[in-house]
Formats: sequence, structure tokens, C-alpha cells
Amino acid sequence: MKFFVYHTPELTPTDTTPDCAVVIDVLRATTTIATALNSGAEAVQAFSDINLLMNVSEQWDANQRIRAGERGGKQVEGCDMGNSPLLCTPETVQGKRLFLSTTNGTRALQAVENAPLVVTAAQVNRHTVVEYLKTQKPETVWLVGSGWEGSYSLEDTVCAGAVLQPFYQDNSDIVGNDECLGAISLYSQWQDRLVELFTQASHGKRLERLALHEDLEYCAKTDILDVLPKQSEKGVLKAS
Ligand code: MLT
Repeated sequence: MKFFVYHTPELTPTDTTPDCAVVIDVLRATTTIATALNSGAEAVQAFSDINLLMNVSEQWDANQRIRAGERGGKQVEGCDMGNSPLLCTPETVQGKRLFLSTTNGTRALQAVENAPLVVTAAQVNRHTVVEYLKTQKPETVWLVGSGWEGSYSLEDTVCAGAVLQPFYQDNSDIVGNDECLGAISLYSQWQDRLVELFTQASHGKRLERLALHEDLEYCAKTDILDVLPKQSEKGVLKAS
């Protein structure tokens, strides 16, 4: 297996696909996706374009759908909720499809939607993703961070390091680009202080300003959900 880390959708190659793409948006899209599916959502359907989300979800029974839209950390007007994973309780999402559009995470998903295997990772389901990769052994794996509007983000990189570390400790040959080692080093330094790291990250500060500290704390929890969000058709993730 060879791993490659790409920090943003913009840095992700477009002329080829990996055997498996792992999309990461710890704050907060992939944490929300894992939590919604773990709470029994039928699926999460991701859109980078909020208008398309509105049109497609319009064709669904209103009782069977939830529209979640976020821009700049805030809820998009006209949506049922923003992008807080804490709102994805079984009472709210069970049996429903979550139609989700966020500033960066859903764009990262779109960037790799043609890969034969697409899964999402966050700190909350890191272990499940690692176990899946250990079983599947895809030859090339891309860990694709969402970043923030084209820029690097600490929280996605530290999660990439958390996924990589168990592979790297067994075999350092799994490293496909320098970004992998950077991610592992970041995770090694901060793994016991993730909330502190997230509060220093630029998007963490943005969420703090919006009084969403509880979201940061939740997103920093590691290995608490045994769920693997896996793309079943383009843009649609189901629990596996
Ligand atoms: C994103 O896609 O940029 C996010 O998940 C932002 C957020 O809701 O915190």
C-alpha cells in the first residue's frame, strides 16, 4: 500500500484516481457524516452547490429528508440545520436522508467521487477507517483534506496523521509523499491535546467565535464511532 496526503481539493490530482480515496473534514463535515450515519440516517447525500441540493431534495418526501447547509460555519437560510454533528441524534436523523452542503468538505468529496472506493474519515471514526484499509489493502490511498477555501488546515492534517500512524509504525514504505510524514509528525505531537490544537486552528477559531466550542470538543474525540461512511453512488454515502 502507498499513501498520499493532499491538503485540499485544489491540490488533489485531477488526471488520475487512487484505488481508494479517504476524504477528511474533521471540522466538521466528515464528523457530521459519521455521526449522522451512526445515528441511523438512511444516507448522506453531499452537494457542493446548495441550489442543486435544494432542487434534488425537493423530490424527496419532506418527512424523509433533512437539509443541512453551512457556509462560513453558519447555517444556510432555508435549510433545516447547519453542519453541527451534535444535532445528528437518532431522534432527528433516523431513517432519513441528510442532504448536506458545506463550504469545503463537500467539495473535497466531489474532487474524488470517481475513485472506485471513497470513504470518509474523522477523528470519531478513525479506527474503523484504519481497520477497513487494513482489510481491503488498496494499492494506492489518497487522504484528501478539505482545508479552508484552498488553504491548508491543521485539523484535517492531524487526522490524516492519525489514520497513517498505525500503517507507518509497521512499515515506513507506505509513505507516498512528504505530506504523509508531515501529517504523522503533527499527530505524534498533538494526539493527546487535540482540543487545544483545534482551538488554535483558524477554522477552530472561527467556530469558537460562533460559540461552537462543544462542536470542537466532540470533533476531537477519537475512535468513538464504529461506522464507515462509504460512497454507494456519486455523492451518496451510506454506513458500511
Ligand atoms: C466545511 O466544509 O468547510 C465545514 O465542514 C465547515 C463547518 O461546518 O465547520
